[in-house]
Amino acid sequence: MPTDPLDAAPDVPCSEDLRDPVQAKAWADAADRRRPLRVRVRAVVVAQLARLPRAARVLELGSGPGFLAERVLAHCPHLAGYTLFDVSEPMLQMSRARVGRYAAATFALGDFRSEGWAGSVQGLFDAVVSMQAVHEVRHKRRVPRLYSQIHDLLTPGGLFLMCDRTPEDDSARSTALFMTAAEQLQALRGAGFVDVRVVMSGDALALCECRRSGGRRTRGTSTPAA
Ligand SMILES: C[S@@+](CC[C@H](N)C(=O)[O-])C[C@H]1O[C@@H](n2cnc3c(N)ncnc32)[C@H](O)[C@@H]1O
Repeated sequence: MPTDPLDAAPDVPCSEDLRDPVQAKAWADAADRRRPLRVRVRAVVVAQLARLPRAARVLELGSGPGFLAERVLAHCPHLAGYTLFDVSEPMLQMSRARVGRYAAATFALGDFRSEGWAGSVQGLFDAVVSMQAVHEVRHKRRVPRLYSQIHDLLTPGGLFLMCDRTPEDDSARSTALFMTAAEQLQALRGAGFVDVRVVMSGDALALCECRRSGGRRTRGTSTPAA
């Protein structure tokens, strides 16, 4: 059987170490300045999560300094749980300082490249969100597996909102690490998601929205494309 050359492609090395406290803080200080669209992406994610039913549970993957969590928790007091999952202790420390006062917030140190990561977060979620973190699997060939795992962590009808980098050039590094919006849609559909769409793009970012099939859909949850 022919093999896909992507299967043998090496992972792309990190250009920075976000487990290092100094580098983690430098990333946090510069992130919104480098990509101003991030502010609007967070606003769209908050608007979507505000429509979840009372006592809904949300998982954020690669939550970093907690910028998104801070917005969500301030505007969605009806959420029962918001789990911030990250591989970097310094990032989790920054997020604890930002949102530790919210009873709904819980913090999980873990690596979504590891085989058992999904078992380390308890139960199913009504929504999974992620911002500028999916490419941290370090090669796009790993993304379909990650999306299958996320799919299985959602309740029927559950929402996945994913914003990640798109390639800024056609270099080998950029195209191995980052996915175009079209590649994202294909990977999401391949993992079994439905109602897959790009909501917003710009600043070398694309925000995609989709759902696990089944369940009762909350009325009016489709976001107008920006
Ligand atoms: C570019 S930062 C984005 C942070 C945050 N989502 C934001 O947009 O403000 C990527 C985050 O993913 C985390 N990360 C990297 N590799 C990871 C992995 N394998 N598992 C879990 N988190 C990871 C990093 O520690 C970092 O906090």
